[in-house]
Amino acid sequence: MAGHISGLHARMILDSRGQPTIEVDCFVDGVLTGRAAVPSGASTGQHEALELRDGDGSKYLGKGVNQAVSNINDIISEALVGLPVDEQKLIDETMIELDGTNKKTKLGANAILGASLACLHAGAAVHSLPLWKYVGGVAGGSMPVPMLNILNGGAHAASNVDVQEFMVMPHGFDSFEEGLRAGVETYHQLKKELKQDGLLGGIGDEGGFAPNLPSNEEGLRYLMRAIEGAGYSTEEMGIALDVASTEFYKDGKYHMDGKAHSSEELADIYSGWLDEYPILSIEDGFDEDDWHGWTTFTKNDGHRVQIVGDDLFVTQQERLAQGIEIGAANAMLVKVNQVGTITETLEAMQLARDNGYNNVMSHRSGETEDTTIADLAVGTRAGQIKTGAPARSDRVAKYNQLLRIAEDVTEYVSPF
Ligand code: PGA
Ligand code: ZN
Repeated sequence: MAGHISGLHARMILDSRGQPTIEVDCFVDGVLTGRAAVPSGASTGQHEALELRDGDGSKYLGKGVNQAVSNINDIISEALVGLPVDEQKLIDETMIELDGTNKKTKLGANAILGASLACLHAGAAVHSLPLWKYVGGVAGGSMPVPMLNILNGGAHAASNVDVQEFMVMPHGFDSFEEGLRAGVETYHQLKKELKQDGLLGGIGDEGGFAPNLPSNEEGLRYLMRAIEGAGYSTEEMGIALDVASTEFYKDGKYHMDGKAHSSEELADIYSGWLDEYPILSIEDGFDEDDWHGWTTFTKNDGHRVQIVGDDLFVTQQERLAQGIEIGAANAMLVKVNQVGTITETLEAMQLARDNGYNNVMSHRSGETEDTTIADLAVGTRAGQIKTGAPARSDRVAKYNQLLRIAEDVTEYVSPF
């Protein structure tokens, strides 16, 4: 018989950008049994559930989380005490009801998510199961193909590059380990190529290099040089982009490469790139409310590229259902903190799957050493994960957890 929650304890910790976030401990029958930490975005979608910040400018530039921590210690903990720790749905529904708002504005989605994930870890522990198995059940796990974000731009870098993420996807390999190795070697090759051209500076928030470039397309050329220079073919190593275009959509125009583009013009640029480069996936190619841009692009190019909604769907069933209805994309990015509980995350993923959409498990640009998403990707058989470059411990922690899991799970299937 599983144990019962005897209390939660939350504290403030720092994330990878040096900003406060929340860590939660879940106690079962008086013993510390599960722990989880909450990530945080920079290019946050406006439809995401609320990340509760103190707003006191004299501390941590207003980004403190004292209120959210108190909400866990003083309110959420009491509501969950006595519940069976492996009744995740009941736990999450209790918190959703306690909050009572659409966007979790009362307690904060960061507070609720921290509690939800700490309980999830504790549930796995009381059943003596690895987290991926606890989440995945009898279906068994599958190793995800990683999207390694090796060149950072947009809101994650101080460069002039508009596209936020240039990623490589080692999808044509026999195992996760082989795929990861190829991705890592490509990262090192990119470093060489940039150094050779005098463009090697710092790295961005997700560990990718962050050079100034003459154009966004130049980023694609560098990725090609890196893939080929590392000795890989474009059959086995593809490219994925997260344009995060909401960040440069102003007054009905997309401002890229110093020019203002209409939705149609931007779609033409993407189509040209698809003709030229081995691009497998484009995320947030259009603004979070430009449904027309999304559907037109999906209609024209959805047969040849994965079109991923991040800010568009914000891991929420309602937005996803709307997109499915009108054919806005063919894949969903999965970020647990966009919705705030594990139960709602799993339900949104199921809705995606039921409608032929791919799921891409994702970190945030602000991360911690928490590796929950690695297990979630395997357990839910998401098939894909994006968790940054193979640099910075907050990113590498996820890859390292995947390497541990790969000792037990060998399935590695290309989603393409
Ligand atoms: P964010 O970036 O965590 O800053 O939102 C990640 C993404 O856009 O996918
Ligand atoms: Zn994104």
